[in-house]
Amino acid sequence: MLTATVSELRCPQKIQKIKGKPTCFGHLDLHSRKQVKLDVITGELVCQKCKTQYPILGGVAILLSDVAAYLVHHVKGISQLVPDSEIPKKYLRDYLFAKAEIEEGHIEDDLEAARVISLYFMNHYLTVKAASNEWWKAENGPSSPLIAKLIQEYWDHGPFEQIQVWLEKLNQNNQLPNARVLELGCGVGGLYSVLKSGIGSYLGLDQSFASIALARHLHLGAPYPGKIMIPQDLLAGVTSREMGAKISLAQNQSVDWIVSDFAHPPLEFEGYDICIALNLIDMLDHPHELPKMQSEVLKKGGIAIQSSPYIWNERAAKQLRSHQPASVKTSAKAVEHLYTKAGFRISDSEEHIPWLFFKNLRQLEVYSVHAFMAVKGDRVQ
Ligand SMILES: C[S@@+](CC[C@H](N)C(=O)[O-])C[C@H]1O[C@@H](n2cnc3c(N)ncnc32)[C@H](O)[C@@H]1O
Ligand SMILES: [Zn+2]
Repeated sequence: MLTATVSELRCPQKIQKIKGKPTCFGHLDLHSRKQVKLDVITGELVCQKCKTQYPILGGVAILLSDVAAYLVHHVKGISQLVPDSEIPKKYLRDYLFAKAEIEEGHIEDDLEAARVISLYFMNHYLTVKAASNEWWKAENGPSSPLIAKLIQEYWDHGPFEQIQVWLEKLNQNNQLPNARVLELGCGVGGLYSVLKSGIGSYLGLDQSFASIALARHLHLGAPYPGKIMIPQDLLAGVTSREMGAKISLAQNQSVDWIVSDFAHPPLEFEGYDICIALNLIDMLDHPHELPKMQSEVLKKGGIAIQSSPYIWNERAAKQLRSHQPASVKTSAKAVEHLYTKAGFRISDSEEHIPWLFFKNLRQLEVYSVHAFMAVKGDRVQ
């Protein structure tokens, strides 16, 4: 975590509801134990008010109310990047127990698994336009002409391209220069490459330790043990081709990535001009919490951007249906309705943006994404 980031953060500890305030939000003191220039690699943040301690491991600040549970549940990602000797003693026993139980599975939604991180790395950082090595083709033997054709036609025209169009519009309206930007569920951080020109500051947050560590490596030069690999023929392993990833250092100090839960962000409310959440809403058990939180963190008149392929689990879909008027028949309209109810006015909307995942030489996954931009107005519950 960069030393400059600490002033932006607040204590996310849940407290007994006193006068409607469910979160501590105390200021944090930084205790640095290992630092590379202005980046704290190991240390902790301590709340001035409730004294809760939040560890910084491998450069990643973990700002969640239950740190012990987080370390156990995310041990797969953490243990790839952080030596056991850096884990705070009070968590070590349970952490090592969980580490001994790690299993490599085929679970697609394990966002600490190297295989899944690799899919998002490709999705965020590899393009067809700038590819020097045709990474979608086989190094040995023939490649699928269909997969090659689809990648060449659609890979570079996913959600990031649409966001770029809207950012240009905000720029022309003078809403981008010096904007404070927050990204919820930022994953491996590739959207920052699209955002960086013109904005005032950026903070990305995500629950996945491995994703945040990779984002910090690629944009801040933070240490990242291990190689960045992508899949090829699965005979050679789940990932088998090394990709030389370009580190493109952020130019100012007001850029960082942290681990936290979007529903309890360690931040002051109403502090941001733009809040982006791409492809997060359909992972949530309570989808309405996303527009609510985007509204809480944005200043009045601030901009929310949301996108998703709406791959709901049935529990979430049921919740969503119960929040809708009978006239709403599609996921896109249902989510736009949630945002309107949370006080937003939808200003721009785009349907069926292609979003591709290269899973290996013989498997390409295609999603169709809905995205929109909305302006925070007065709450109209
Ligand atoms: C489908 S991925 C999308 C990543 C990235 N925004 C993109 O569009 O490529 C969803 C991301 O949301 C994160 N996530 C899920 N629940 C979260 C939560 N409660 N708080 C913060 N991040 C969360 C996951 O770790 C994952 O990185
Ligand atoms: Zn506190």
